[in-house]
Amino acid sequence: MISNNIVTASPILRWAGGKNWLVKHISTLLPEKFNNYHEPFIGGASMYLAIDPSNHAYLSDLNKDLIETYNAVKQDPSAIINILKTYENSKEFYYYLREKESCGEYSKAARFIFLNQTSFNGIYRVNLKGKYNVPYGNRTKNFLEEDKIYALSHRLQNAYLTHGDFEVNKDQIHEGDLVFLDPPYTVSHNKNGFIKYNQKLFSLDDQYRLSEYVDLIKENNAYYILTNAAHEKVKEIFNKGDKRFVKNRASLIGGNNSNRGIIEEYIFTNI
Ligand SMILES: C[S@@+](CC[C@H](N)C(=O)[O-])C[C@H]1O[C@@H](n2cnc3c(N)ncnc32)[C@H](O)[C@@H]1O
Repeated sequence: MISNNIVTASPILRWAGGKNWLVKHISTLLPEKFNNYHEPFIGGASMYLAIDPSNHAYLSDLNKDLIETYNAVKQDPSAIINILKTYENSKEFYYYLREKESCGEYSKAARFIFLNQTSFNGIYRVNLKGKYNVPYGNRTKNFLEEDKIYALSHRLQNAYLTHGDFEVNKDQIHEGDLVFLDPPYTVSHNKNGFIKYNQKLFSLDDQYRLSEYVDLIKENNAYYILTNAAHEKVKEIFNKGDKRFVKNRASLIGGNNSNRGIIEEYIFTNI
């Protein structure tokens, strides 16, 4: 069952690289109108939820557990909420659930949401065997926000959710569509080199592949907005004669120079 009193929707997950900070600028970036919406690095979905596109949305991510969670939320939010209501935010229960292999789509989704909300930093990290291994977070915030889960479910009704590499739905991109691209930033902001981000590293080759994907979007007369690390190599790869903005944002991780706590990101767009 889906609640009728939905006003706004916001992310239900804590997600590394989440774009909550960009949401307040998004209205200045969007085209006046667009057809379908595509977001192939959906992560915590902050941008999709803020944009609230009216047509179909093609959402995907390489993280299978994430996409399965969203699919379960789309289908039956109450089933997940009822399971979450039986959970408790304690160290003992966290480690018990972390070790347990859940079966059933709603139990798996409830486990994913619970571990994300009560873990140390909300990051999704697995060991070499692919087992989630983030420690308990001692957070006092309520891990169950029913309204947010219902609101997300409502928003996902128009969305096709796919697990896979960012190219998975490329044949669906047509004239007038909008594609929002938020890849992992594999070059560090202090320009010292590459950072490890996800289970699978988004390599320099992937950045070149993403550049070709942007070419395909443009060939199809669709719009794109791409965020990426402010780095010389990134500037070179995505230099397509379109617009490039630099956005500053506060970082929780401070540097040791006069720019401490402020990092720069690029936004590329043909809008
Ligand atoms: C910066 S995060 C996206 C954050 C999202 N915009 C938000 O606001 O929460 C990047 C996402 O890309 C996904 N990812 C990594 N490599 C990928 C690939 N090759 N294809 C598709 N998704 C990938 C990660 O799982 C992660 O969720």
